[in-house]
Amino acid sequence: MGRNVTFPCGHLVGRELQLAHSAQVAGLAPDPIEIYASAIDASDYTERLSALVKRVVPTIGDLLDIGAGGGQLGCALRVVGRRWTAIEPNPNMTVRLSRLAGAPHVIRCGWEAAQIPRKSHDTVLAASIAAPFQTPAAFLSRCLAWTRRTVVWIVPAHRGPRGLVFAGCLPPKWHCEDETPGVEIVLGKLPANHQPRVVATAEWTFAGVFADLERLADYLADRLGWAALDSRRHEMSAHLLSRAKPHPAGHRLEIPRQSAVLAWGEL
Ligand SMILES: C[S@@+](CC[C@H](N)C(=O)[O-])C[C@H]1O[C@@H](n2cnc3c(N)ncnc32)[C@H](O)[C@@H]1O
Repeated sequence: MGRNVTFPCGHLVGRELQLAHSAQVAGLAPDPIEIYASAIDASDYTERLSALVKRVVPTIGDLLDIGAGGGQLGCALRVVGRRWTAIEPNPNMTVRLSRLAGAPHVIRCGWEAAQIPRKSHDTVLAASIAAPFQTPAAFLSRCLAWTRRTVVWIVPAHRGPRGLVFAGCLPPKWHCEDETPGVEIVLGKLPANHQPRVVATAEWTFAGVFADLERLADYLADRLGWAALDSRRHEMSAHLLSRAKPHPAGHRLEIPRQSAVLAWGEL
């Protein structure tokens, strides 16, 4: 694996702490998870994946949303009048979640420490979080303990980087990440008797709108650990510009993605 092996869920490092941009248009807040959530706002992820999850799991019931992020997907899946519980450790995301109409009950910690009664939710969802890669068997066993009916994981299925946000715009020689489709890694780590009953995939586009592409170029170069005078910084700006489409608010970057919906239990 390369140097950026996690989902954009990591802690802040180096100059990221000094970056303080508006997340509204550029999505360049210093928190990588806020950048990811802003990109999800500009993407068709919620629409595409919620439609697929509803086909696989027609009855969602009480929903436990592990690593809910900005709550976009949970909001599209939750059933009005039924419980929506979010496990979410990131403070920016808990603020986002609290502002949603019909906000979920938020448990402000990681899944490892969450105290959730057994069989308390019909559907347990873990969408685009790192746990299925890190400790899949232990995580699945916890999800199965919490559900009355179905466990759903959403994991990347495309070939490409899964760590640094917007790394999918960059050539592999820059991002240096493993590009194995995430679903292959997750299924390969699960024992035969814990394989999902369903594996279904959906195409979608990860997108971001940037008022100032230079800021994104700087951000990515910083995250890649390039020195301030690294000559590739100019190439980064030119590369992003060549990938971007004009947008009324600046530039729009798009990265084709595929995600797999894995499901266990009653379907
Ligand atoms: C890439 S975001 C995905 C958000 C959302 N589920 C979605 O599909 O858009 C990953 C989320 O997992 C959260 N997370 C990180 N570590 C976690 C942990 N140990 N337990 C639960 N959530 C975690 C992050 O804070 C972040 O909000």
